[in-house]
Amino acid sequence: MPSLLVVHHTPSPALQAVLETVREGVALVEGVELVVRPALSAGAADVLAADGILLGTPANIGYMSGALKHFFDTVYYPCLDATVGLPFGVYVHGNDDTSGALASIQRITGALRWKQVAAPLSLTGAPGTDDLAGCRELAATVAVSL
Ligand SMILES: Cc1cc2nc3c(=O)[nH]c(=O)nc-3n(C[C@H](O)[C@H](O)[C@H](O)COP(=O)(O)O)c2cc1C
Repeated sequence: MPSLLVVHHTPSPALQAVLETVREGVALVEGVELVVRPALSAGAADVLAADGILLGTPANIGYMSGALKHFFDTVYYPCLDATVGLPFGVYVHGNDDTSGALASIQRITGALRWKQVAAPLSLTGAPGTDDLAGCRELAATVAVSL
């Protein structure tokens, strides 16, 4: 069964709501195993065992969170050759501007040569019904691609 790894940093209720909706989205797709790891505890073994990955982070000071950056610092060289073409998706939540965080993730996933299989999801402010529907769709889209 293909495995979808969700690597997330979830420091607030808004991001917890997003993560729960991600779980719902993956559950819409039959035959995909869901593995959820906080970014500070995820490692190369998790990535190497995954068939696809969904990244989730707040925007912090115009960049991805330090937690997600730590994840990339940890897995970059162990995964560099082994994960070319890995399907991935990403969501970023911020107060008002997620562009720097999204750009930083695009840069590093580009260097890893992962394959983006869903449009990046940018969320600002308290997640509303449409935002959460977008999260569900993002997660289901990545899951379907596996
Ligand atoms: C140190 C710090 C830096 C932040 N920088 C940004 C930022 O650059 N852009 C942005 O949109 N939000 C920024 N935020 C807001 C966080 O992204 C937001 O708090 C997080 O997504 C959780 O959302 P919530 O506070 O609504 O629960 C920052 C928050 C903190 C604590």
